[in-house]
Amino acid sequence: MLDSRQKKTPFLDALKKYVKEGISPFDVPGHHMGNVSNSLKRFLGEMTFKADVNAPRGLDNLNHPTGVVKEAEELMALAYDAKEAFFLINGTTQGILASIMTVCKANDKIILPRNCHKSAINALTLSGAMPVFIAPKYDLDLEIANQPSVNDYIEAMDSNPDAVAIFVINPTYFGACLDLELLVKEAHKRNMLVIADEAHGAHFGFNEYGPISAIKAGADFSSVSLHKTLGSLTQSSVLLMNTDKISHYDILKTLNILNTTSPSSLLIASLDAARKYMALNGQIKLNDIINLANYARKEINRIPGFKACDAKYFDKQGCYDYDETKLVIELDNIDLTGFELYNLLKDKYSIQMELAEQYVILGIIAIGSKKEHIDNLVSALKDISSKYFSENIKYPKYRFDIKYPPQALRPRTAYHAPLKKIKLDEAVGKISKEAIMVYPPGIPLIIPGEIFTKPLIEHIKYYYSTGATIISDYDDGNVSIVDEENWEGFEKYKEDLENVRKISL
Ligand SMILES: Cc1ncc(COP(=O)(O)O)c(C=O)c1O
Repeated sequence: MLDSRQKKTPFLDALKKYVKEGISPFDVPGHHMGNVSNSLKRFLGEMTFKADVNAPRGLDNLNHPTGVVKEAEELMALAYDAKEAFFLINGTTQGILASIMTVCKANDKIILPRNCHKSAINALTLSGAMPVFIAPKYDLDLEIANQPSVNDYIEAMDSNPDAVAIFVINPTYFGACLDLELLVKEAHKRNMLVIADEAHGAHFGFNEYGPISAIKAGADFSSVSLHKTLGSLTQSSVLLMNTDKISHYDILKTLNILNTTSPSSLLIASLDAARKYMALNGQIKLNDIINLANYARKEINRIPGFKACDAKYFDKQGCYDYDETKLVIELDNIDLTGFELYNLLKDKYSIQMELAEQYVILGIIAIGSKKEHIDNLVSALKDISSKYFSENIKYPKYRFDIKYPPQALRPRTAYHAPLKKIKLDEAVGKISKEAIMVYPPGIPLIIPGEIFTKPLIEHIKYYYSTGATIISDYDDGNVSIVDEENWEGFEKYKEDLENVRKISL
């Protein structure tokens, strides 16, 4: 039943009122409600600038909300059934950083799946926490990582009873979910907090029929990217909190360390509007888009060379649940890699997919998806199939060793250790000081403290050759490693490291 309070948009209403007031601005931002003539204003229009205000009086303060921001956050918490909600203007990245940094002190253990987003890895560096990584299950056909099982988590929790928290992704980029209710119960039984990354699951809170949301499953924190699936502006997310074990003040304090002191009114207003829309129309709209996604899968499965994976497929891969809004398209007998297909779709057909891997491309079906867009994709794939499909094309499956690199040091220790810059090719056996990843998805192939292996280096070089965007410290073929020879503090890690090297290289 709709709670009538959800019809309100306190921040957006206050913003509209402010814009109409005929203010003479002497505050920042310096365009003073659009009194500039630049090409962006001509492109975006007057109102974007008029509504881009700071206005401490009347529009509250995100760093210390007591007025309309607070009201809007309370409505957000209500919509998600959470105790509290904190608006984020630096994406879910900020929520993940803040929740891990608040829960974990230096050297505290946290259990994480190794295929987590770079924000979780960066949170380890910032907090000084010690990761206990668990490997996800692999889909060897698509060459993608899904979830670890609940049992994998239980094993890690039992072997590390001193861990303070577990971190869970709900869902993965490709839509895989685990049995979160069971996992939360097991973690809480062991006195560990549950921190969820719901960057790709902001819609779960509004869908009774899909995978369960982290908050409903009992998680303590969840960061949800409303901008990814629910129509708020890019960068706007929410940190949901559902625990009494961490105080409001502690989490807000950490959020404010990470926050600008000049939050964007446009981003905040967009969260307010997206929440109202979803609270009022969410279920109907989500039913519609899942129907659209199913329609897309049906049509794509008729095209030689392409297979759209559905819930049954992920079930066979051992996933507990699946987010049907993810459009995972496998390539089969097509004379293209996923990376080439991704580029071709954009360059020739004006179709922008979310990401590519070697044998797969991913589309996000979200609140803005249209049948017309799906029909465009289907007709482009038909055209591509007619040119590139052949039964004779065999893919070199299992191209790479998919093991994650061995961990030698805590990420923060490696981050602070002395740096040496060397050629990637010469890095076998060396400890990385950096995270290297393809973006998207932004899941690091190696993180600070892990050891470069030969297969990993081949893997990184292959990604460079595809033209995918690689995030790393250098773009000249070098990487940053720990300078073991010139590090006085290295002695105490030496023996352990030699053991890790012996076992893994
Ligand atoms: C799994 C995952 N977690 C977290 C994030 C960070 O979310 P945001 O872009 O909202 O900061 C992303 C972004 O792509 C992601 O894919």
